[in-house]
Amino acid sequence: MVSTHPAGVQDAGTQYLPQRRNTNTNISPNQELLPLTAKANSQGNLEIGGCDVTTLVEQFGSPLYILDEETLRTACRQYRDGFQKYYPGESQVLYASKAWNCLAVCAIAGSEGLGIDVVSGGELYTALAAGVSPAKIYLHGNNKSREELILAIESGVTIVADNWYELHTLVDIVETLHATSPSKIRVMLRLTPGIECHTHEYIRTGHLDSKFGFDPNDLAEVFEFVSQQPNLNCVGLHAHIGSQIFERQPHRDLAAVMVQWLRDANKYGLNVTELNVGGGLGIKYVESDDPPSIDEWVKAICEVVQSACAAENLPLPKLLSEPGRSLIATSCVTAYTVGSSKTIPEIRTYVSIDGGMSDNPRPITYQSVYRAVIANKLSASHTETVTIAGKHCESGDILIKNAQLPKTEPGDILVVMATGAYNYSMASNYNRLPRPAAVVVANGEANLILQRETYQDLIRQDCLPERLK
Ligand code: LLP
Repeated sequence: MVSTHPAGVQDAGTQYLPQRRNTNTNISPNQELLPLTAKANSQGNLEIGGCDVTTLVEQFGSPLYILDEETLRTACRQYRDGFQKYYPGESQVLYASKAWNCLAVCAIAGSEGLGIDVVSGGELYTALAAGVSPAKIYLHGNNKSREELILAIESGVTIVADNWYELHTLVDIVETLHATSPSKIRVMLRLTPGIECHTHEYIRTGHLDSKFGFDPNDLAEVFEFVSQQPNLNCVGLHAHIGSQIFERQPHRDLAAVMVQWLRDANKYGLNVTELNVGGGLGIKYVESDDPPSIDEWVKAICEVVQSACAAENLPLPKLLSEPGRSLIATSCVTAYTVGSSKTIPEIRTYVSIDGGMSDNPRPITYQSVYRAVIANKLSASHTETVTIAGKHCESGDILIKNAQLPKTEPGDILVVMATGAYNYSMASNYNRLPRPAAVVVANGEANLILQRETYQDLIRQDCLPERLK
């Protein structure tokens, strides 16, 4: 890490606090490392949402996901208001709940007027249980089961059809199951745009060699087929090019390509009025990450769709987008307790914490990098370079290599930043570690949103056949 301070003055955890608070209310959460409410309190400890992080850990245990409601709501509003500001047509922002799907997060997004993108029966069930209107829920997935499709149809949500098999299954379901009262199913079509972007290979989805969506070469055939189905109401087109993207050009290219598809679809007699440009805006995980703001991203998309529609003389479609990471990542931190450490002279010092790859699988899966602070030593100079190790029986279970921190001791509270996206939602019970609890904090109050799993929870699904006892 390169110090931003003059020679001789060392970095400290306070360097990560949002700097422009109170002077600029339009801070884009995805350009910060800590939640917008983060500050050092009078004890010098990290405070989020008016709550002392060390007290939260005493109260709710460790590790603990801490979700800052204000940061999440700010991001929701920046997306929603951005579309209203830059797009004269109708718009709808969907929260891509794969980033973190649970009742409280769906409810917060829903209360800000966002819809929800779900990718499984389980995510759909949760969004419905959170009280989100089915009219604002969109079901994705490259291999939805018949049961998932039936749940979606019966709940009245929109289905984003991904492939031929699914289209045929949908037609079959309506013809057999709903033969007595066939109703039109609201579908969108997911297309693969063939747009390359610079991100990790596993989280790129828009290039042609992708398991998602219809091949653009099949478009004519797909449009023709769908236009002949009396029970399918094809309302729109969808594409998503990938995740953690910092460039704006791929999204501009995508928006332009989608308007061409819209024009083509309507040549087949389809009345396609919605375009969903997906998600993918990146966030700052480390100081050098420099993503565009939410406002800049939304503006770029809106401009392209408007000018492409004007060029084609098309009415403006309803414009949808479905951000996940940039909506939620920065609003959450994970607090851990420091335990053992091991120094290998002239090689490195490992500092172990009470979680790891089970609550944050991103470093081991994508080599993702994170930053951390010590909540109870926020102003202490960063004098040490250590490697933060998880507690799993696996050498690769390293959360942060070469973290710059003050001297750590057992009992210190290590806080990893920007863990709101793809952490809890990808968490596992590897080594039978119970999943941590999560709290939402606002105005000095903390409420549990996910209970800590117990050992009883871990064996809840286990069966011990009589003959093995
Ligand atoms: N829409 C679709 C169809 C998607 O597949 C995704 C993400 C999104 C929207 C939201 O993208 P976002 O705004 O979050 O970039 N587990 C990986 C990320 C996988 C993304 C999968 N699809 C990670 O931890 O980096």
